[in-house]
Amino acid sequence: MSAPVLLPEPRLRERARPHPTRVGKSYYIRTFGCQMNEHDSERIAGLFEADGMTRAGEIESADVIYINTCTIRENADNRLYGNLGQLKVVKDANPETLLVVGGCAAQKDRDVVRARAPWVDVVMGTHNLDRVLELIDHAEQWGPITEVVDELAAMPSSLPARRELEHSAWVTIQIGCNNTCTFCIVPAVRGVEVSRRPGDIVREVERLAADGVVEVTLLGQNVDTYGRDLAIDGKRRPIFAELLRRVGSVDGIERVRFTSPHPNDFREDVALAMAETPAVCEQLHFPLQSGSDRILAAMHRGYNRAKYLDRLAMAREIIPGLAVSTDVIVGFPGETDEDFEMTMEVVEEARFDQAFMFIFSPRPGTRAAEMTEEFVPQEIIRERFDRLVETQNRISLERNQETVGQVFQVLSEGPSKKDEAVATTRTRPGKVVHVEGRYPAGMIFGVRVESAAPHHLTGHRV
Ligand code: SF4
Ligand code: F3S
Repeated sequence: MSAPVLLPEPRLRERARPHPTRVGKSYYIRTFGCQMNEHDSERIAGLFEADGMTRAGEIESADVIYINTCTIRENADNRLYGNLGQLKVVKDANPETLLVVGGCAAQKDRDVVRARAPWVDVVMGTHNLDRVLELIDHAEQWGPITEVVDELAAMPSSLPARRELEHSAWVTIQIGCNNTCTFCIVPAVRGVEVSRRPGDIVREVERLAADGVVEVTLLGQNVDTYGRDLAIDGKRRPIFAELLRRVGSVDGIERVRFTSPHPNDFREDVALAMAETPAVCEQLHFPLQSGSDRILAAMHRGYNRAKYLDRLAMAREIIPGLAVSTDVIVGFPGETDEDFEMTMEVVEEARFDQAFMFIFSPRPGTRAAEMTEEFVPQEIIRERFDRLVETQNRISLERNQETVGQVFQVLSEGPSKKDEAVATTRTRPGKVVHVEGRYPAGMIFGVRVESAAPHHLTGHRV
């Protein structure tokens, strides 16, 4: 077998000004949406700090404000427009403040953002993060600017990142998505699937480990197809299982997580890599979306209920102690009572540890948004949604109660936000355990679970 040829990643383009230019200024970043956006915000923060800026405590006192937007649901858009109003108040009070709006909503609706908020200095997209400093320079000298590009300029992981947690890091392995789920706007805002070179990913993880990171979360829209665009060894095939093994063997990395897999592409080789690589955690996000074959077909998900449940059973059989979370959409166009009952059946059967449950939100530009004649009345959706939440909360509680009395290795995330005397920690399967005492972020220790609630556990050190 010939060794893979590793090409260098596209590098950050030369900065117009090579030295920090905003020493002594401050920045504030507000992030909406998913882990992709959270990680992008860390990169924006990394670029701002490389330019000499420090983080401001509150939005009103910042010299530069960056709003990283999401457009996955209608309420995300509404929040954005609420935020644009707040930015105007800040700008009116201090006209020197530089306002930047980036992220998915700006990528998709650049003209709407510009028209609704002419007071914003920079409107930029998801593909040109590396340009943020030049765009701010431009706005300072020449006035407001909009720059949104359709092609990825530089693989964002080649940018510096200012991590939120010292001991834990996101690592992008793939950008974009080639699927066509009819409810989803992500391919329109993040583009087609592009995988990073495995050697670049492993080198980044090695650098992170040398910097004290013990936990990495690999990020991609559909990680199970990772690598199929790279043609390594001349073959176009997914190599996520191999990547997991390589990342999991980096010295100093104690925990590897990833998000998101896709039930249609999740195969045994990945489950085996999870089970056989000690650093890879027993945690799987396995988005169901619906339990009805008819609705799954209308969603273009590529699997049916039987295939979903088979793959879930395979994962649970191969990976002992696996915790599974899911996503469910209620009220997809055309969803009948019968379809919804099928979703409830799968939820009962699968017994997820956790579920992210959403009411269908039509996103302009998606196929599902055009199925207006089949839209389900809001009161029916609400009733179904409440039933689903109630059922899942009961199951989550039961799953958590099963852990009472057991001992887990936990990783501390530092003092809990509500109580300084309590540490927030996480088990390898990803469950939150509150532990009385002061345990610095990054510390790994044993905990016996004492009690359970639907969304967290409490325990004491053993
Ligand atoms: Fe969206 Fe489907 Fe791609 Fe996930 S797999 S990002 S839901 S199109
Ligand atoms: Fe994420 Fe929202 Fe964009 S969920 S990919 S930030 S549309």
